[in-house]
Order: sequence, then C-alpha cells, then structure tokens
Amino acid sequence: MLDIGSLKLKNWLVLAPMSGITNLPFRLMIKKLGPALVTTEMVSAMGLIKGQKKTLRYLKSHSDEKPLAVQIFGTTPEVMAEATEIVVAAGADIVDINMGCPAKKVLKTGAGGALLRMPEKVKEIISSVRQACSVPLTTKIRAGWSADEPVTSEISHIIEDLGVDALTIHPRFVTQGFSGKADWTVISKLKKQLKIPVIGNGDVFSPSLAIKMKDQTGCDGVMLGRAAVGNPWIFRQIAAMENGHPIYQPSLSERRAFIEDHFRLLSAFEGENRAAFLMRGILLRYTKALPRGARFRESITQINDCNTLISTLDQYFLSLEENTN
Ligand SMILES: Cc1cc2nc3c(=O)[nH]c(=O)nc-3n(C[C@H](O)[C@H](O)[C@H](O)COP(=O)(O)O)c2cc1C
Repeated sequence: MLDIGSLKLKNWLVLAPMSGITNLPFRLMIKKLGPALVTTEMVSAMGLIKGQKKTLRYLKSHSDEKPLAVQIFGTTPEVMAEATEIVVAAGADIVDINMGCPAKKVLKTGAGGALLRMPEKVKEIISSVRQACSVPLTTKIRAGWSADEPVTSEISHIIEDLGVDALTIHPRFVTQGFSGKADWTVISKLKKQLKIPVIGNGDVFSPSLAIKMKDQTGCDGVMLGRAAVGNPWIFRQIAAMENGHPIYQPSLSERRAFIEDHFRLLSAFEGENRAAFLMRGILLRYTKALPRGARFRESITQINDCNTLISTLDQYFLSLEENTN
C-alpha cells in the first residue's frame, strides 16, 4: 500500500500525468483497471488564476476516478499558491507540482524542469504552496537538469524539509527528453535518503518491470505513463502477477467494449465531432499490438463521424474474431 500524507491508497500503482492524454474520459477508463491514483494533465497555474475557460476545464472531475491528483506548473510562488487554492476548491485530493517538464514552451517561462536549476525558487514555491494546500502535496522531478547538474539529492531534501508528502522521480535529465534509459539507481538513492514516500517512474513497459522496479529500488509506489496508453490492462496484469495469478489478458470482445466505452465518454465530454477526431489517435494506440492493425488504422484516417467509426471498428473486430475461430 502507499500512503501519501493523510491519504491511504489501495495499492502502489499510479497513472502518470500525460499532457493531451490523461483527460477525464481516459482517467475514468483507466481507473476501472486498477491504479490507486490517477493524475490530470499538467495545468497552468497562471491560466487558473486568470480564470481561463480552457484551463479550468482540466479541473473537471468525477467521483468514480477519485482519489485524483491535479498537477500544476508555474514559476511564481504567489501564483502557484493561488492556483493551489483553486485546485483544492475544485476537489483535488492531491496537488502535484511539476518540476520536470522538458517542453521548451514550459522551460522558457522558468517552470517545469527549469526549476531544478533554481533551488531558491523551489524553496519559495514549495513554502507558498504548502501553506495554501490543505490536502496532501507531492512533487514530480527528474534526475536534474543535465548529467553535469545532477541535483536530485539537494532538491529532494528541500522538498522533504518543506513538508511535501511524497516525491515522484522520473530519473532522466531534463536535457535528455525521452532519450536514453531511465536510471533506476537514482530512485534507489532517493529512497535511501528520504523519509517521505518515493514513487518511481520511467520505462516500466511490462508487468514484470513494475515489480522489478519496486523490488530493485525499494520505492513505495510505481507510476506508469506510456505503457498504460497502449495497454490500459497493465494495471490488472501487475496485480495478477503480484498475487501469483496468470497474467490477465483481455479478450477481443473486452477490448472492443473498452474502446467503445472510451469513445462514448469522449463524445459526452468533447462533443461528437471532436471525439471522432481524438478517437482516431486513440485507436492507433489501442490497435497497435493487434493483427492487421495497420490496415484498420489506414481505413479510419478520414472518418469524421461516430457511427461510421464504430461500424468500421465492429468490422475490424469481427474479422479478428473470425480469424481466431
Ligand atoms: C505524451 C506525454 C505527455 C506527458 N505529459 C506530462 C505532464 O503533463 N506532466 C508530467 O509531469 N509529465 C508528463 N509526461 C511524463 C510522464 O508523466 C512520465 O514521467 C514519463 O512518460 C516516463 O514514464 P513512462 O516511461 O512510464 O512513460 C508526459 C509524457 C508523455 C509521453
């Protein structure tokens, strides 16, 4: 189990924040499959305090996905504190501060991964946010700015000393983006240094790797990002493996029903036209590992309405079932 401040989570698995992906429909779909905690996309603190409609939409939540961590990014302590109050008032169970994003548009504002080069700023932000935050507070960091500036140790002590309740580490440097491999030894080091829970993240692409990360590093929780996008069932598969059961494999009809449910939720949230557009991208991911997926994906590139998309999906799954009989 994983405890974050006063929050007792039902297991040690966490869905990573992913911009453009972990919106409300996706989180609701994934939550059914087992992670104890799901996280929003990163939300601009400035956008929140300006009351920007588009930004406030990221706070939309549903009781079925609870507990929910809302991740904010920004660089001005007062703005971050005010945004925290907005996020908590909107129902966040955890506030998470992004201190690792490598995207240029975030870095140039001094937020995300840029904070790892500014320990004094980190102190100011965390002090302000901690005061404003009446729910558990977490931060998500990388291993440092670059191999020449591996600041994890210094930053993580600041984080712990200022009352943050848990720390997530994605052990790549900011300048690395997603290249190279996540260095899990950094997770082990942090776990040894800190008293607060450490959540490990990075390159967990299979159930056995999730268990390996936990065993090898001693981390308290494991956060999964990209693996959950193509294979949402990975959370159930990890639980099965942990309990010595056979690895859970969704049937074709289960996959088909999951995709349609996701589509219906997206339609309700985004409207039919936008849902059809977004769903094309999602289908690319869900059908990647299936036979003749490439031909199916080709056939959906021009489809703009829900009914045609669903009937094309039906035909594809029917052809898969016929070939397995
Ligand atoms: C498309 C995409 C969007 C992401 N957006 C965020 C984000 O908004 N906030 C954040 O802290 N990390 C973000 N990340 C990083 C992930 O949370 C995670 O740290 C990273 O993908 C490594 O974990 P993984 O190997 O399990 O994917 C994003 C990653 C991806 C692939």
